[in-house]
Amino acid sequence: MKKIFGCVLMGLIMISFLGTAMAGGNYRKGKYLFRKNCRSCHMENAPGDKQAKVLEPSTYTMSEWTAAFAPEKAATYPCKAAWEKTTPEGIEDIYSYLYKFAKDSPTPAKCK
Ligand code: HEC
Repeated sequence: MKKIFGCVLMGLIMISFLGTAMAGGNYRKGKYLFRKNCRSCHMENAPGDKQAKVLEPSTYTMSEWTAAFAPEKAATYPCKAAWEKTTPEGIEDIYSYLYKFAKDSPTPAKCK
């Protein structure tokens, strides 16, 4: 009986670990997706009418990125369509990329 209980407990612990790892998003994928889906407007010298505010990970602090990616906030952006074209997991990945290299992170980065 004790053995079964132990196994169930281990299983639950492993599931919760996996859950947090997945919720964290994949910053490598995020970097790719950000370039592909967002940078066309959020970079210097974007073509013609696409020019929007230049965004790169070091533009904002970690908490500012968290605020910027709150769904209520994102719904107000004119680029809602680009967000909707990206899957929710993709948005999570982009967020983890920007967050990981934010201005006040240990490894701030420009978008090269
Ligand atoms: C078609 C062009 C276009 C695309 C593609 C685009 N955006 Fe935007 N985005 C804008 C414009 C225009 C604004 C309004 C503010 C500005 O002029 O930069 C904006 C605003 C934002 C803001 C708020 C910035 C601030 O400081 O207020 C964030 C964050 C953002 N976009 C993220 C993204 C992400 C993430 C993607 C990719 C999923 C994306 N955008 C794709 C045009 C675009």
